[in-house]
Amino acid sequence: MSQPQQSPIPVIIDCDTGVDDALALLLAVRHPGLDVRAITCVAGNTDVDGVVRNTLTVLEQAGAPDIPVARGAERPLIEPARHAPVHGSDGMGDLGLPAPSRRPVDVDAVTLLRREILASPTPVTLIPTAPLTNIALLLRTHPEVTRNIARIVFMGGAVEVGNATPVAEFNVWHDPEAAAILLTAGVPITMYGLDVFTRVVVPAPTVHRLRASRDPGTRLAGDLLAHRPATPGGSPDDSEAGGLGDAGAVCTVADPGGVTTRALPVEVSLAPGPTRGQTIVDRRVRPGEAEHHGEGRTTPLVDVAVDVDVDRFVKLYLETVER
Ligand code: RIB
Ligand code: CA
Repeated sequence: MSQPQQSPIPVIIDCDTGVDDALALLLAVRHPGLDVRAITCVAGNTDVDGVVRNTLTVLEQAGAPDIPVARGAERPLIEPARHAPVHGSDGMGDLGLPAPSRRPVDVDAVTLLRREILASPTPVTLIPTAPLTNIALLLRTHPEVTRNIARIVFMGGAVEVGNATPVAEFNVWHDPEAAAILLTAGVPITMYGLDVFTRVVVPAPTVHRLRASRDPGTRLAGDLLAHRPATPGGSPDDSEAGGLGDAGAVCTVADPGGVTTRALPVEVSLAPGPTRGQTIVDRRVRPGEAEHHGEGRTTPLVDVAVDVDVDRFVKLYLETVER
């Protein structure tokens, strides 16, 4: 017997578009099981106005419906804005796409987030794929929104690796205080971190096929993937294999069975110095001496993605985006 058709999951994406944020948006607006209620923009990969421009460009290229897009924080809560040159000078791979004709809404990101969360008849899933500045400001300004948030599935942090620093992932490193506020939001949280993020790669021949598509959105996905070398400095035949990056967080909402998670304590190191922005994931099998001396952690557990079915997510992405 076929599964009863579930109504689409209401989602809001908070992004710093961003080559891989763009891949995530293309998936989200084309997946029949997701209802994108709003998209909010924050400084991260590039400046916030560039993020707004890139986000609107992606929606236009994808022929997406007129989803409200709002401009958010220009910089982190404490740190200055520190962009990610790997996304190109325009923040989206310098693909030379035409400027968007669409405009953002005339309210800020926190206002749009609050409005759309509280207006939803069913609890909303938030998918931050960027520094968590907007989310932190939302939680501090309108804590009442937590009553209508089903889960926050964020791309950020890491169990064992780093990219911005040897131990810190870019989104958390960019605004560590905001990440710490997210982790105490008091709603279910899934951490889609670098450990799984880097593994989900589309093979080069498939990227070539996407780039040859007659559909602008599919072609854009191919061009974006070609910009994201799966293994920087990897073998030449892998030169156009592309990592799905942030799109993996959207896959996790659309098909949660594609990741394996463990409920673990997660804390963010806020101390100045080499560990700042590191997510400390406690995988010990039993409490340590610190707990006996009253120094134990009290943060709520986080559902940390510790494994991912790469083929399943690549298949999901291609079946959804490729037309
Ligand atoms: O560390 C990777 C994350 O930082 C991705 O979300 C990428 O887009 C950047 O925001
Ligand atoms: Ca991002």
